[in-house]
Amino acid sequence: MRKLFSLIGASILFLAFFGCTKPSKEARLIHDFNKDWQFHLGDHPDAIQMDFDASDWRNLRLPHDWSIEGEFSEDHPTRPEGGALPAGIGWYRKTFTVPQEAANKEAANKTTWVEFDGVYRNGEVWINGQHLGKRPNGYSSFHYDLTPYLNYGDSSNIIAVKVDNSQQPNSRWYTGSGIYRNVRLVTTGKVHVAHWGSFVTTPEVSEDVAKVNFQLNLKNDGKEDQPLKVLSKIIDQENKVIASLETDSLIAANAVVLVEQDFSVQSPKLWSPDNPYMYQVQTEVYVNDQLVDNYQTPLGIRYFSFDPEEGFFLNGEYMKILGVCNHHDLGALGAAVNKRAIERRLEILKEMGANAIRTAHNPPSPELLQLCDSMGFIVQDEAFDVWKKKKVDADGHLFWDEWHKRDLEDLILRDRNHPSIMMWSIGNEIREQFDSTGLTITKELVDIVKNLDTTRPVTCALTENIPDKNYIYQSGALDLLGFNYKHKDHKNFPEWYPGEKLIATENMSALATRGQYDLPSDTTMRWPQAHDIPLETGNEDLTVSAYDQVSAYWGSTHEETWKSIKDQDFMSGLFVWTGFDYLGEPIPYPYPARSSYFGIIDLAGFPKDSYYMYQSEWTDKAMLHVFPHWNWQEGQEVDIWAYYNQADEVELFLNGESQGVKKKEGDDLHVMWRIPFEPGTLKVISRKDGKVVLEKEIHTAGEASRIEMTPDRIQLKANGKDMSFITVNILDEEGNLVPEADNVVNFEIVGEGHIAGVDNGYQASLEPFKADYRKAFHGKCLVIVETNENAGKITLKATAEGLEPSEIVLETN
Ligand code: GAL
Repeated sequence: MRKLFSLIGASILFLAFFGCTKPSKEARLIHDFNKDWQFHLGDHPDAIQMDFDASDWRNLRLPHDWSIEGEFSEDHPTRPEGGALPAGIGWYRKTFTVPQEAANKEAANKTTWVEFDGVYRNGEVWINGQHLGKRPNGYSSFHYDLTPYLNYGDSSNIIAVKVDNSQQPNSRWYTGSGIYRNVRLVTTGKVHVAHWGSFVTTPEVSEDVAKVNFQLNLKNDGKEDQPLKVLSKIIDQENKVIASLETDSLIAANAVVLVEQDFSVQSPKLWSPDNPYMYQVQTEVYVNDQLVDNYQTPLGIRYFSFDPEEGFFLNGEYMKILGVCNHHDLGALGAAVNKRAIERRLEILKEMGANAIRTAHNPPSPELLQLCDSMGFIVQDEAFDVWKKKKVDADGHLFWDEWHKRDLEDLILRDRNHPSIMMWSIGNEIREQFDSTGLTITKELVDIVKNLDTTRPVTCALTENIPDKNYIYQSGALDLLGFNYKHKDHKNFPEWYPGEKLIATENMSALATRGQYDLPSDTTMRWPQAHDIPLETGNEDLTVSAYDQVSAYWGSTHEETWKSIKDQDFMSGLFVWTGFDYLGEPIPYPYPARSSYFGIIDLAGFPKDSYYMYQSEWTDKAMLHVFPHWNWQEGQEVDIWAYYNQADEVELFLNGESQGVKKKEGDDLHVMWRIPFEPGTLKVISRKDGKVVLEKEIHTAGEASRIEMTPDRIQLKANGKDMSFITVNILDEEGNLVPEADNVVNFEIVGEGHIAGVDNGYQASLEPFKADYRKAFHGKCLVIVETNENAGKITLKATAEGLEPSEIVLETN
């Protein structure tokens, strides 16, 4: 039985000392448990048996998503909304011996558990034939204690995992299928920091000093009471110890004890998106002077507040939350987590000026949060898309009653040490906002959150904005009111919701296909026009114009919503739907469209033009972007747009002749010229106070002539998971991108890596993502190379009929 012992030890404040440290002693062994799994599609209940013959199963390394390997079909039960890829049931199996360090003589003093960051869905786990449990929610992280069931020493253990994603449809977007996040095997002493057992907060922060409160849950799986000592150090980014505390306590057999330590950090470096300074709390746990566990907790020191009239403040300074919503898939990689792939996405968003991410609409991978901490993104961490009332037949409402408390608690416990997280969202467009059941459920969920964390506001993404009719709002339990797609009403909010803190949780849903330009560009379209009017217009190839002129009827163009928020301080910020195109939800287009059109950036990671509107507004660095391409019919009237900043005006030249100077007037966010096409060179020059700030040129491209490959990174790590994202451009002889080029590019790879995926961002392409070829789309495609574990070279060659080939060499160390 678990008993909670009160803290009996006295905290002894060590003099803060300076000096270098690294965790010299490791009592906690964290093994990457991703390698050497065997996998088979279909149901194989016998695979839990020790003597099951899996010799014909496929060997693979996790994280793994089997859906992304499949062929598109509108007949898959996932439907195009779910990405039109297969789901079903799959089994994983792994044979392992308990790591030497935990084996034999020491086994009696060790606890070993397995951690899964996410299994989509219904992950069910057996160890050596023993059933450990089942987790319906495909986004929740979970762990199981293996200690009592393990064979130690040389004897083998078998872990078997059944993944059942057969009940469909269960999502409004692509989910992926399988053990799509990381798995670890953790071994500690019998007395150890409990799973997700630490909680660090900064109750008082000023420029001079920060108070840091550290709470640690310790667990004793042993049969004897134990005296223990907890030594915690705060380490800065330069690895220096800046504060240190030792606390003595006592833990009973089979019990949990809470140890609390209060630190002071002098002249703290405050965390912000511009300077995401990270500290760490390093903890060592001793029993009778024997190190039994060590543990690391991330720490960022910052303070923030939301104000009903003035918006958001970070570290005492006004700041607008400039965010995007993203689903969890990584395009051609599917749902399979890869840290470099997430990092690349965040780099692209950072460059655009975004400072925030909403994890629509589910718990994200731990890697996303680690990167948001270290790269400087504010996070709205979201728990649910549905509560008890469904949106699609087999979604999370099926296990709401049994699991919602646990799912929400686990999210908070897992994530609450990330300084990047500044809001918890308990749901997205939840049906219960429309009836009185919303009152009780909201209160219950907010209580669950507050019980574990009172340092962040709780919000919910609402759509019903008649205050009396919104029961989630009426519950009075939300700290921060989030609204989706209410750009027309933002101005009324202070009157409708007096005294409430406000954020625009989801916006725009503007549609665009990279490189597609439909003229004229100055008419705005809502596609479809209304929920009961099917889309009867549009391009045959299911592309849509990338001039910012088309949106869903519930949304707006990028410019429309941004204008409704940018000067309204009471709107603390916004999240654009979405940063990147995502798999599934191709509305309003029919199959073969199978991925969304809402991204500011396409599925392959290539920015659409609206990216530069945000860059012009959200960054201070001088920029100038002109579009479209310059390949049209002789005499055709073409609209030329430019986004710019740090300048008063832009002048356009066609073949050296001025086409006029334009300035943004009033609330304009771009300038436009309409001129008849003649081949040659378009040039724009931005000027401030008469001085040239930037110049850009676009040339009429000739015939496709050669392939150009540009890797985002050449030096890679030989760790089996590092990646290079290689942009493939089809160029004419002069080096201009050929805007309509759609050549099939074939890839050949030799050396210490393989192709992890290919893409071109076309929303209706039915080519496979796992392939060694890809058609260019509007002159571009992407190939993703992943390293293996050997150092050496990777040579990638790209060929296409009639084009000069290209070759690059990557190095892995
Ligand atoms: C919202 C919803 C999102 C997505 C979006 C598409 O209403 O919250 O998940 O479906 O619409 O426009």
